[in-house]
Amino acid sequence: MENALLLCVFMSHWHFLNALFTVDVPQPQYIVEYGSNVTMECRFRVNGQLKLHDLSVIWEKKEEHTKEVYKLHKGKENFNNQHSSYAGRVKLFKDKLQFGQSMLQVTNVKPTDAGTYLCLIGYEGADYKTITLQVKAPYRNITKRTVIVQRTAVHNEWELTCQSKGYPKAEIIWHNGEHQDFSDKFGDPCSMALGKSQNCPTSVSHMQNVDNALQRLYRH
Ligand SMILES: *[C@@H]1O[C@H](CO)[C@@H](O)[C@H](O)[C@H]1NC(C)=O
Ligand SMILES: *[C@@H]1O[C@H](CO)[C@@H](O)[C@H](O)[C@H]1NC(C)=O
Repeated sequence: MENALLLCVFMSHWHFLNALFTVDVPQPQYIVEYGSNVTMECRFRVNGQLKLHDLSVIWEKKEEHTKEVYKLHKGKENFNNQHSSYAGRVKLFKDKLQFGQSMLQVTNVKPTDAGTYLCLIGYEGADYKTITLQVKAPYRNITKRTVIVQRTAVHNEWELTCQSKGYPKAEIIWHNGEHQDFSDKFGDPCSMALGKSQNCPTSVSHMQNVDNALQRLYRH
């Protein structure tokens, strides 16, 4: 809200001074893995030596209620309105500003960080560009367990357990060695939203008279 106002002020105030001031993004989209770090960048023109006290930089995340990620107001960092989800996780590389680079590092990226970011610069004019961030968490570590629960002369019952964590939500398919699809014989597939709960409920399924090994595939 306040930043929208600030942008309006930037725009109206600086528009007449220099209508040619533009912000550019060398990379409009970043795709990173959950838990890693990302450095997003936007660029502006600095003529000669940077006058830091004339520079304002705002990074915000576009949502229904815009979240302020980072603010440098007239050369001074201001974290008063920073959204709590970014506290302690963002850093602007100030030594890059002299080259016209606004580089923002976000550490320990979470799935909730995914979305559209605005990079606003007020210097000899004002402009902004958007950058999108995608967060991935591959289903790498899939653990499997097979236990026989009941064995009678007519009837074998097995419990097949399979667990993994990832994001976005996976489509899960079970099939046997003949590539027959058994998915509909299983209950709700295990899935979880990373960042909300760290404990993925173990997916347990019972099957009767299964001779072939079943495979569970995580696909997303
Ligand atoms: C992310 O950045 C932090 C702080 O700079 C560093 O300590 C950490 O090792 C980095 N993590 C990765 C996965 O590069
Ligand atoms: C894979 O999962 C198992 C069981 O949860 C865990 O003990 C192991 O450390 C995990 N391995 C990796 C590489 O994350």
